[in-house]
Amino acid sequence: MLIRKPSEYRWSDTTPREIYQKRREFIRTLSGAAAGLAGAAAMPWAESLQAQTGPKLPGVTKSPLSDTGEKLNSFKDITTYNNFYEFGTQKEEPAVLSRGFKTNPWTLTIEGEVAKKKVLGYDDLFKIAPLEERIYRMRCVEAWSIVVPWVGVPLAALLKQVEPTSKAQYVAFETHYSRSSMLAPDEAGINFPYVEGLRLDEAMHPLTMLAVGLYGEKLPNQNGAPVRLVVPWKYGFKGIKSITRIRLVEKQPPSTWNLINAREYGFYSNVNPQVDHPRWTQATERRLGEIFRKKTLPFNGYADQVASLYSGMDLRKFY
Ligand code: MTE
Repeated sequence: MLIRKPSEYRWSDTTPREIYQKRREFIRTLSGAAAGLAGAAAMPWAESLQAQTGPKLPGVTKSPLSDTGEKLNSFKDITTYNNFYEFGTQKEEPAVLSRGFKTNPWTLTIEGEVAKKKVLGYDDLFKIAPLEERIYRMRCVEAWSIVVPWVGVPLAALLKQVEPTSKAQYVAFETHYSRSSMLAPDEAGINFPYVEGLRLDEAMHPLTMLAVGLYGEKLPNQNGAPVRLVVPWKYGFKGIKSITRIRLVEKQPPSTWNLINAREYGFYSNVNPQVDHPRWTQATERRLGEIFRKKTLPFNGYADQVASLYSGMDLRKFY
């Protein structure tokens, strides 16, 4: 089990004690009263997280938009150190508590300001466009980062298929929520369903991805199966998981963390080493698996590709 370094910050550090205690109750029920999480980690299935075990997704080609030259984080790092509050607020919990989450059948509806509304089933998710592997950095707002070989398609490929109307200015996303297999809002300390949003031009940017896999396999549940958003120049919380609804809309849509604390979690949330989180610095980050902190890059290193989306905007104001 991963032990949190004292240098790491969490928004959940401020979780009230009664919420935390309720959550522990829930976790005990799910993982077996006696075993608890510590016991679960010693179970055989936990071993399988250390290796890639699933069948490879067919027909995946490497995208020229992949980063090169940076060491990938291991499959184990990527799949056992997660933020997925529906399945627990501690990093090791989603891998355990999402095990029974059924993602097939699935429905992803794309609607709103579109000429051709679309409803995709589970198998359709893997046929939106040819699957690409893209290696991206992911920088969490909590100041840790990882490098992930995602598999997926440009979100633009799907949006073009539904033909946005001239009124569509933003894209709103919503995670599937089921009370029977996920925490209650008061146990997690945030509202469900988890929601996120992008401006339409951000959503159409070639770097923005709908991911259905990682390390060549279908996404593990804890990483947002069967389909999640990846926007590599923004803080990781914009990467909404297990998406069931996409709506094209006229007005800026709500986003979960922004609703909780707009001052700490802006709508844009572009990675910006010059704008600190009110409770910690964003100038540096801890790459999982490395000892020394590294400098955080503007737009997480993707400035050449995306800075023009924000020309003329004061990024201290629109954070
Ligand atoms: N999506 C949902 N539905 N629920 C969440 O709690 N956490 C976000 C984001 N997407 C979250 C979510 C945060 S804070 C981060 S950093 C990333 O997922 C983490 O993705 P990973 O666990 O695959 O690394």
